[in-house]
Amino acid sequence: MSFPLERPRRLRATERLRAMVRETSVSPPHLIYPLFVTPGEGVRREIASLPGCFHLSVEEAAREAEEVERLGIGGVILFGLPSAKDAKGSEGYDDQGVVQQAVRAIRRACRELVVFTDVCLCEYTSHGHCGVVDKGEVQNDATLELLARMAVSHAKAGAHVVAPSDMMDGRVGAIREALDDEGLEAVPILSYAAKYASAFYGPFREAADSAPQFGDRRGYQMDPANVREAMREVRLDVDEGADMVMVKPALPYLDVIRAVAETSDRPVAAYNVSGEYAMVKAAAAKGWVDEDRMMREILTSIRRAGADVILTYHAKDFARKAG
Ligand code: PBG
Repeated sequence: MSFPLERPRRLRATERLRAMVRETSVSPPHLIYPLFVTPGEGVRREIASLPGCFHLSVEEAAREAEEVERLGIGGVILFGLPSAKDAKGSEGYDDQGVVQQAVRAIRRACRELVVFTDVCLCEYTSHGHCGVVDKGEVQNDATLELLARMAVSHAKAGAHVVAPSDMMDGRVGAIREALDDEGLEAVPILSYAAKYASAFYGPFREAADSAPQFGDRRGYQMDPANVREAMREVRLDVDEGADMVMVKPALPYLDVIRAVAETSDRPVAAYNVSGEYAMVKAAAAKGWVDEDRMMREILTSIRRAGADVILTYHAKDFARKAG
């Protein structure tokens, strides 16, 4: 018998052949594009730390969403920058808040796009923490009621899916109950179930003006060293009623995505966060990497790890080039 016995290279000979045996695909319907909604009119300001992404006023956000829909992307997730912050983040659950207005405008403008909202207080609080602060501590149970009000307010405005990202214990259950009490039982919850205390959120905190003013988030977000704990978080959120679960960030946690995908019977989302995006953009600006190929490889790796859905700032670029 001739050597070698196996020749895997045979199936790599042409692009059609490679495409035929490719195990993982990424396409625009798998993607969710984040939008940052800001007060004012006619505002479309590029975010310095997220090149290619913009702070958008309500009508501009609706126009952006129309383009996202035209590109075939599955959905958008909305973050809000309030006109004023306070200790309890009250603009976050104000029916006239920027996110609520943007949801209504996007729902008028787009017929198919899935509209997600991020449910968290950190953009709205003066101290920048994801919950109510008392005696220098983020109070878990006192925060739940506010998150539930925010989720209800988003859903009433027309959000298809609410996505709590605060990492308080019991928030999925509290939000589910509040939605059901308001007759919003058909609105699903995408829970940021395994969200780590990560340095990769740096550019987002500039974009959303949500950096904590004292301390850090390690008292509620997860320790990057843990995976068993991620399984527990996912199990608790599913037991409380989460319809989809998220792992965040994505790239440094591909093993966690894999573990969740193998054990959970819910669709798995992964958040390819701001720092992951900014690294690619910064290296590409220096001419050190091929941005396009890197984007495809990154999104492919997240899908290969087991994510069904990817939240990513690359969504528009990817969709433009996929077509
Ligand atoms: C809000 C929230 C954050 C992100 C999504 N929702 C920031 C944080 O927890 O500090 C990060 C998204 C990104 O970095 O792209 N709690």
